[in-house]
Amino acid sequence: MKVLVTGGLGFIGSHTVVELQNKGFDVVIIDDCSNSDENVLDGIQAITGKKPLYEKLDLKEKHKVEDFFQRHQDVEGVIHFAASKAVGESVEKPLLYYENNIGTLVYILKELCNKNKASFIFSSSCTVYGQADKMPITEDAPVKVAESPYGNTKQMGEEIISDTCKVTPSLNAIALRYFNPMGAHPSGEIGELPKGVPQNLVPFITQTGIGLRQELSVFGDDYPTPDGTCIRDYIYVVDLAKAHVVALERLLNGKNEANYEVFNVGTGTGSSVLEAIQSFEKVSGRKLNYKIVDRRPGDITSAYADTTKANKVLGWKAEYTLEEAMNYAWIWEQKIRD
Ligand code: UD1
Repeated sequence: MKVLVTGGLGFIGSHTVVELQNKGFDVVIIDDCSNSDENVLDGIQAITGKKPLYEKLDLKEKHKVEDFFQRHQDVEGVIHFAASKAVGESVEKPLLYYENNIGTLVYILKELCNKNKASFIFSSSCTVYGQADKMPITEDAPVKVAESPYGNTKQMGEEIISDTCKVTPSLNAIALRYFNPMGAHPSGEIGELPKGVPQNLVPFITQTGIGLRQELSVFGDDYPTPDGTCIRDYIYVVDLAKAHVVALERLLNGKNEANYEVFNVGTGTGSSVLEAIQSFEKVSGRKLNYKIVDRRPGDITSAYADTTKANKVLGWKAEYTLEEAMNYAWIWEQKIRD
């Protein structure tokens, strides 16, 4: 069975390609390499023994998307990762984000609507909940006004898919709302490759640990949390990748209860920034150089998932702890700086 993975050379995409190939799916990747590297294909091959099909293609070029689906009529499922994801950049360049994240989604959905049957998995984010009123966060918590154009593209993306599914019974879709993905493959062959200065906590920690950055800034220790730093739900990227495969199989096997469904993908455990630092210090045996600075504008105090729906309905559960995931992130950081 052939599955298209857009953004399949990226961090979460590449780990998902590995899990798909391990389960016997034929994968074709589309990636424009704007935030990824073709060498990732070698890593995927080293782990799975198979190089996936790959086309360098910019999904903003509508005729190229049409042409791709003409040439690959046997694609039965699509996992759509390709998107821009830097919150700060999205505030500076909103139209870039709407074009990259919304325009391309529409082009792909149009192609899928032409098929007799199609399955679609969308990368959404816990960012749609904003600062939720209750912890842990369930899927029926209200979607809050987006803090950034990036967050808005995730909310709008979900609405576009939901609206399309309502009038297209042949289209089945699942949106996965990720909490905070982290870590790297246990093989050390693939992992996170942030371009420039990392915006996310874990790559900033490992880059500081290895000496590439001088110091980690901890954004605020005066939040109403036990140690004063923000709380997040850090989900190991291999666990997250497996959730995509399970979700896709649900659609392909016709097990879904509605033709559009939403699931949280997290561990259900909240960890503070200081706890993340402690887990790095434990797995690396190094002291991390960090200082407390002002809060980062737009950060929420706390977000962690209620994973009951994914556990019960998808039969999926995160297996790795923050410390295990941090260990793999650290092994990866050391390997790429060798
Ligand atoms: C951010 C985005 C979210 C997006 C996700 C993608 C915001 C408000 N949210 O989530 O929409 O889906 O990335 O991965 O930008 N921290 C530090 N120092 C650092 C970096 C981070 O203290 O140098 C803290 C942050 O304040 C936060 C935690 O670490 O409390 C996690 O930050 P980050 O990895 O950037 O993720 P989010 O902000 O949760």
